Amino acid sequence: MSFLSATLARVKPSPTIAVSTMAAELKAAGRDVIGLGAGEPDFDTPQNIKDAGIAAIGAGKTKYTAPDGIPELKAAIVAKFKRDNGLDYSAAQVSVGTGGKQILYNALMATMNPGDEVVIPAPYWVSYPDMVLLAGGTPVIAAASSQTGYKLTPDQLEAAITPKTKWFIFNSPSNPTGAGYSRDELRALTDVLMRHPHVWVMTDDMYEHLTYGDFEFCTPAQVEPGLYERTLTCNGVSKAYAMTGWRIGYAAGPQHLIAAMRKIQSQSTSNPCSISQWAAVEALNGSQEFIARNNAVFKRRRDLVVDMLNEAPGLDCPVPEGAFYVYPSIADCIGKTSAGGVRITDDEVFATALLEESGVAVVFGAAFGLSPNFRVSYATSDAALKEACTRIQAFCAGLS
Ligand SMILES: Cc1ncc(COP(=O)(O)O)c(C=O)c1O
Repeated sequence: MSFLSATLARVKPSPTIAVSTMAAELKAAGRDVIGLGAGEPDFDTPQNIKDAGIAAIGAGKTKYTAPDGIPELKAAIVAKFKRDNGLDYSAAQVSVGTGGKQILYNALMATMNPGDEVVIPAPYWVSYPDMVLLAGGTPVIAAASSQTGYKLTPDQLEAAITPKTKWFIFNSPSNPTGAGYSRDELRALTDVLMRHPHVWVMTDDMYEHLTYGDFEFCTPAQVEPGLYERTLTCNGVSKAYAMTGWRIGYAAGPQHLIAAMRKIQSQSTSNPCSISQWAAVEALNGSQEFIARNNAVFKRRRDLVVDMLNEAPGLDCPVPEGAFYVYPSIADCIGKTSAGGVRITDDEVFATALLEESGVAVVFGAAFGLSPNFRVSYATSDAALKEACTRIQAFCAGLS
């Protein structure tokens, strides 16, 4: 009998590790490498939020808390859902976890039985399929296409649903594409879900506040109140408030699901960090002015990166509505040979050759379940982005 769990054997090692390991090795060897792989804002946590954390330490708020959050944070989350999304939740319908990731994981652990299927649109955030597998369920991947800006169509959703489907995981704006669903696009999906009352919706709204231009964010239970009783609306402070290291995520949904998630959390991490919870209260209740200021910077960078990548021969990069990622297609580069003599057979080979020959680290599309593409994170300085995109243009121009 194996010492390691059989469940673990179903989980793939992270496909992004190969690229990041190679980038680190090249850097250590003195090569000038620009990393475009970061999944976090390059801004610092706002001072008022840091001060709230420091004040919490000073006031001795350093003990265990209720497993799924202090009442003050739950109240701030209830207010946030009302203010931003027009959704009414009570504190008993709210769960706070150690990052958005733990919230999603708790929900899956609390609900998956062998044979249960979870529909995940591709390209997807790398953790969804593996979290489903760890929880004992079966991921069912529904591939979106570049023609729809990597957004799932109602027909694709309909085709993925079976009698075994328990959850549909929805993520808008998306990691890795930045694609944000308009109200009409989301309504088309919620109409499908209304025809399948056994399917629950796990919506990951982590990038809600990172949207650009006149895009209007909306979330499933807001667009279709008929889904309220079977929707878990997940969110967190990591991306919008530059608080990735503080580890606070939260969700709201039906009380019996929230209670089941609390049970899991009480037997795993006990509670999210007390100090971080107080900082998150300030993030949600304090000034939101920081968000608009950062978004202006992100929008400028998005436009810069999309323009420069579309000038690279063989790349096709849609303009995404939000997050801080773009997901260009390299379809027209496949079959060509790089200046360094590498035949580009897929996006992993492309990303490896780009790193070795041009010193730019990106994450290849296969890691996110849809190829041939790569993901660029533009959460880095304008100067680094300009230089990286210039190198990508030169790399692509060298393909023959
Ligand atoms: C789509 C998505 N959901 C959830 C998370 C996890 O957020 P947290 O850092 O709060 O666990 C991430 C982080 O990269 C993400 O991209």
